[in-house]
Amino acid sequence: MLALACVSGLSTVYAASPRKESFDPAQVTLGLDTYRQFCQRCHGTELRNSGASTFDLRQFPPGEYERFLESVSEGSGDMPPHGDILTEEEIDALFAYVVTTQRSNSL
Ligand code: HEC
Repeated sequence: MLALACVSGLSTVYAASPRKESFDPAQVTLGLDTYRQFCQRCHGTELRNSGASTFDLRQFPPGEYERFLESVSEGSGDMPPHGDILTEEEIDALFAYVVTTQRSNSL
């Protein structure tokens, strides 16, 4: 995975990417706060939405951090870009929140 990040040419950005099996609880909490503020109105409480008009984040592949970062920063389809609103730390935290919530939902 590390080699892949390096050849992408964005290694400085991805060097800090979360690739851990579990996330720091403080990071997940920041992700939850950020999610409620910026994402929940479209993506639903605890990621629960039908996926009909937005995207069902429970289905987002947890291995695709780069895709997450890019889609959230630059926007995707009808989703507006958030790159100027959120820090990379907040986007990392959102990813941690999404992956952690996916895991707890699937129990
Ligand atoms: C205005 C409504 C809206 C808001 C706010 C919003 N999204 Fe989205 N999001 C969408 C829509 C619509 C899609 C489907 C876009 C598409 O079809 O490509 C989407 C897709 C996504 C995807 C999948 C993109 C892909 O690679 O396929 C991710 C991840 C995502 N949103 C995360 C977030 C996060 C995190 C936030 C909060 C920072 C957020 N969204 C805020 C509407 C929104």
